[in-house]
Amino acid sequence: MANNFEYYAPTKVVFGKGAEQQVGRLVKEAGGTKVLIHYGGKSAVRSGLIDCMKAELDKAEIPYVELGGVVPNPLLSKVYEGIELCRAEGADFILAVGGGSVIDSSKAIAYGLANEGDVWDLYEHTKTAAACRPVGVVLTIAAAGSETSNSSVITNEENGKKRSYNDDIARPKFAIMNPEFTMTLPDYQTQSGCTDMMMHTMERYFTNGGNMEITDSIAEGLLRTVKKNAVILHQDPENYEARAEVMWAGSLAHNGLTGCGNDGGDFSSHMLEHEMGGMFNVTHGAGLAAIWGSWARYVYKDCLHRFVRYAVNVMEVEHTGNDEETALKGIEAMEEFYRSIGMPVNMRELGIEPTDEQIHEMAVRCAVACGGKKGSAKVLYEEDMEKIYRMAR
Ligand code: NZQ
Ligand code: ZN
Repeated sequence: MANNFEYYAPTKVVFGKGAEQQVGRLVKEAGGTKVLIHYGGKSAVRSGLIDCMKAELDKAEIPYVELGGVVPNPLLSKVYEGIELCRAEGADFILAVGGGSVIDSSKAIAYGLANEGDVWDLYEHTKTAAACRPVGVVLTIAAAGSETSNSSVITNEENGKKRSYNDDIARPKFAIMNPEFTMTLPDYQTQSGCTDMMMHTMERYFTNGGNMEITDSIAEGLLRTVKKNAVILHQDPENYEARAEVMWAGSLAHNGLTGCGNDGGDFSSHMLEHEMGGMFNVTHGAGLAAIWGSWARYVYKDCLHRFVRYAVNVMEVEHTGNDEETALKGIEAMEEFYRSIGMPVNMRELGIEPTDEQIHEMAVRCAVACGGKKGSAKVLYEEDMEKIYRMAR
């Protein structure tokens, strides 16, 4: 059954070698008159990309200020710093040069500039945003999909809460995607990125509330493509074609396309992982790999038809004649795939050893963040979340 849906993907994508040279034109098109160039720790400076952005903006006669230092699992304190700087300098356009963390920090700054009061209230869901300043992206890692998504995820370092706020008004005006920029990524980041984008589509795939054949076909094709190219990149990180495949897949995996006609998706693995990120600062994609197998084994019987389809159409497992057996073979094959690209399949392999109290705390927080329950493959409550965390140790 096809559910009604809205599909809104307004981000202009400029893809390929040399795409960064379009930045001046794109900022002007989006109405920016003074830019905040926002970036992370080191990589974009080291690669010369920040200098390149400055040169391009100079050429286009667009003034700018800059703020680096965004960390993975981006922090609220940096968002406040960005809002203050933009106000002081009169910057009205945020150019995110980096990955999901930089883009999400940029979206939060853009919300903060356009709304009264404390921007964290949005992430606590005690307020909604009336407006958002424009954000543009120069992407350096294929992963979170924030370059086209409506989402922003921020960590409040004062209480360890990692929370998301979703609104179409924050979708970036443009995304510059040159696959060459991703060639300097450490393998762990490349593979965490591939894991994350696959999960964005899997969250929309393992559902009980209806789906469309066309959406399933797009989703399965995307998943097979990322799976294949992740393995290529594990051996050959400078393979341009493979970098291009996963870069485009990362955007399509999270702009809504692979969810059209479904029931809104499951997203429990993401919610479970966000608590691990908030408490232990783990890399998001690796955290997803560490929790997914336990989640899948906990829920598969309640969503058997989708797990069987996944096993056969994505993991290329032969149907054994028994649905449950086939579904489990699919889950095992997925874990084997994770291992083959250096991803963890449990918390120990991820490098964290939460105590019983910490497991309980994560489950409590996760249930609160979900408004009490979450999931479509199977609806999970706090006690289910705690069980899955325990299975994943
Ligand atoms: O800080 P630098 O030095 O740039 O290093 C970064 C960072 O350490 C490095 N990196 C990025 N591009 C590089 C590079 N290193 C070498 N060469 C390059 N070209 O990679 C590390 C990870 O960067 P980050 O931006 O954190 O990665 P990602 O894109 O995976 O973003 C993760 C964040 O996005 C959130 C996650 O929770 C996490 O906080 N998510 C955002 C979503 C959204 N807004 O739609 C959806 C996702 O589900 C996710 O939750
Ligand atoms: Zn994700």
